[in-house]
Amino acid sequence: MATILDGKKLRDKILDELAKKISSFSVKPKLVVILVGEDSASKIYVANKQKCAQKIGIISEVINYPSDVKEQVLIDKINELNSDKFVHAILVQLPLPEHISKTNIINAIAPQKDVDGFTPYNFGKLFSGEKPYVYPCTPKGVLKLLDEYGIELEGKHAVVIGRSNIVGRPMAQMLMNRNATVTVCHSYTKNLEQITKTADIIVSAVGKNIIKGEMLKSGCVVVDVGIFKDASGKLLGDVDFETSSKIASYISPVPGGVGPMTIASLMLNTVELFENSL
Ligand code: GUN
Repeated sequence: MATILDGKKLRDKILDELAKKISSFSVKPKLVVILVGEDSASKIYVANKQKCAQKIGIISEVINYPSDVKEQVLIDKINELNSDKFVHAILVQLPLPEHISKTNIINAIAPQKDVDGFTPYNFGKLFSGEKPYVYPCTPKGVLKLLDEYGIELEGKHAVVIGRSNIVGRPMAQMLMNRNATVTVCHSYTKNLEQITKTADIIVSAVGKNIIKGEMLKSGCVVVDVGIFKDASGKLLGDVDFETSSKIASYISPVPGGVGPMTIASLMLNTVELFENSL
């Protein structure tokens, strides 16, 4: 049976340390989250982020806009936040409604306050192997989880499934920066199973149940970033836990694996941006 990569336990440890650190600051870090529309998953994510921030002493403000808000209204607000010295971190929750250009919105965020690490400056730094202000939250959380369990990356074959800007692309880059040999798979990949069979580490971020135990190499490490609900409303990941946990040496559960680590990374990033602003 595989060892569980316990994201909740590590999140709690990181948050305890951060709370102590923040209590020593005379000015508190401030995170502003912009939430557009009524996407129910986004609302839950944002509420969790806010609850967590408040618990550890980060000032957290959520600004809600209706789904028909004009792009320029958002850009004006971001510009205002960029020049507010009491705001250290800005997050625009994705996805955005179709009529708004995600690129224009992300480009408006000052790189020094870009808590997701999604602006072209931070992405560019990451992809050229240099240091961005902060690293994207989910891949950062995945690496912290792997490091916590002493999982070696150097020279290992890491297979990333999914190529989104939020997870897959930065994940692949960050694994490469840690000297892993990285293969990126996506919806056009042929013979996925042939590739996953050669993986020492699999990070799956698709949002569909695609990984089964028979697709894995014995003793591999499986990180499940996917999260979705089945017809009965049960939370599932990309990985069939039952069969995969019998083959893998380490596996992250859903829920309780990567999700808590994403939030912990967001808090770490907020504090990093705050400290950098001093
Ligand atoms: N939507 C889903 N994940 C994320 C994330 O990490 N950052 C933002 N801004 N939106 C998201």
